Amino acid sequence: MLERERTMKVGEVLAAPVRRRRFMIGAFWTSLAGLVAAAGVSIANTMYPRGVGGFGGPVAVPASAIPRPGDPPRPNLDGRFLLVNLAPGEGLAVDGSAETSGGLLALWRRCPHLGCTVPWNESYTWKDGRKGWFVCPCHGSTYSKAGLRVHGPAPRSMDTMRIEVTDAGIVVQTGDRTKGDIDNAQRVVPWPT
Ligand code: FES
Repeated sequence: MLERERTMKVGEVLAAPVRRRRFMIGAFWTSLAGLVAAAGVSIANTMYPRGVGGFGGPVAVPASAIPRPGDPPRPNLDGRFLLVNLAPGEGLAVDGSAETSGGLLALWRRCPHLGCTVPWNESYTWKDGRKGWFVCPCHGSTYSKAGLRVHGPAPRSMDTMRIEVTDAGIVVQTGDRTKGDIDNAQRVVPWPT
């Protein structure tokens, strides 16, 4: 009887480290799988942004945040765009681009030259006497209020983002961009509707 009990105790003592080792190995693989899954989700989010309110997806702008025709552009930090409400005939380049009836334009703030953020400069005066231009702080590329390039090393005008009008205002599809060109001012969306 005593011998049997002693044998059982020895067996239990030997089994304990084995169980502990199995537990540690299990915990290790579980942690590793969790880390790999988290990294995968992170990479997928980066490569395929779901666009739930930030750059890469739809960004809603309420009617109250839309500038009036002729007002200075309003930067939208979440969507990385500048919302412009052109008055009729406004924002044309110096070379006399086609007329526009005015309306909304969402300009991607990224300079087409080397990617700097382009701010609006209300007091900057072009040589034709017109005030208010987008001027890139990096190498001086200058764009009209419609994002038309008039000066500098940028290879084209500022890119635009698609605008949808809703009951509450507009939604800017920041992932749906069109390269800037001479027709920028004709891409406007009428507002108010
Ligand atoms: Fe804008 Fe060079 S990055 S002019």
